[in-house]
Amino acid sequence: MDFKTSFLADTKSLFLEGKKDHMGSYLYSTPNPEIQDDPAKGEVYYMELISKNSNYYLYREEIELINQVYPKMASYVPPEASIIEFGPGTDKAFKNKSLPFLKAVKNLKSYIPVDICQTYLDDSEAILKEELPQVSVKTINSDFIKNVDLVKDFPNPVVFFKGSTITNLSIENCLAFLTRIGQALQPNGLLIVGVDSNQNESSLRQAYDDGKMANLTESILYFINRDLPVTGFNPYGFQYLFNWDSEKHCVEHNVKATEDQEFVLDNTPVKVKQGQKFHLLSSYKYPIDYFQSIAKQAGLKPKDCLVHEDGRMVIHILGV
Ligand SMILES: C[S@@+](CC[C@H](N)C(=O)[O-])C[C@H]1O[C@@H](n2cnc3c(N)ncnc32)[C@H](O)[C@@H]1O
Repeated sequence: MDFKTSFLADTKSLFLEGKKDHMGSYLYSTPNPEIQDDPAKGEVYYMELISKNSNYYLYREEIELINQVYPKMASYVPPEASIIEFGPGTDKAFKNKSLPFLKAVKNLKSYIPVDICQTYLDDSEAILKEELPQVSVKTINSDFIKNVDLVKDFPNPVVFFKGSTITNLSIENCLAFLTRIGQALQPNGLLIVGVDSNQNESSLRQAYDDGKMANLTESILYFINRDLPVTGFNPYGFQYLFNWDSEKHCVEHNVKATEDQEFVLDNTPVKVKQGQKFHLLSSYKYPIDYFQSIAKQAGLKPKDCLVHEDGRMVIHILGV
């Protein structure tokens, strides 16, 4: 299924079936330069989230962690590996997190960044060609959740998945995703994945509930309005709501309707009531043992876990 078809299907299940927690892939919209002040600019809001809120510790602490432990991470990578990175992110994320690790890997054969954002793919390719010209690069513009099997196309695969992006998946989807990755990595691949394990509500609220995550979450509604076949939809008629569910280890990113509205989505009428809540996506916060138990259920073998000194950001090394 291509991106737009999935986007439409997921948006229909959000508004017509009340499906929850499945819109995380649509956070990184690129503004259309032909539209003045295009609000569908998730890319821009994501940059503001990671760079303009000093309490958003995830990005900063993962950079610090990787810069301390990259020799250890690299020591697990077999020679002649193909490193497939899921979601390399911005040029800054690539330079500060991926590059130190990639440089430390001995005899790296190829680097394959997979992202739905073409800007991020182009940036990572340009930087790697400059910094490690001997490594071959193949960019893949694709949804890595839906197309995990692409890993099988590369010899000695090592999947690198930083940024705690995996924790945008619901627990069931995370388990399904890890199971499929484990199968795709057979017989001797590796998964290196960054996870936020923070359970402190106050610091989570400070990280997410200062308006920047609200802009990013609401950008999905502008993206729907801009790119999907919808008429009469008011994407401004919603308000962001943060919620921490400690039992599920889940920060919910919800929007609540601030007005009644009726619109037509792909020829289907939709009614939204004022006060109606839509749970668009989540940031799960898995304690180390909890994440390792999901990984084991998925058939993966925890080999190591490297923890930031503040005890929140973790890099898990998982074998098959
Ligand atoms: C939270 S950002 C993390 C970026 C980077 N890894 C870092 O550490 O800062 C998520 C990245 O994954 C990409 N992404 C998110 N969901 C995706 C999906 N389902 N398929 C492909 N790329 C996706 C985004 O475009 C972005 O580059």
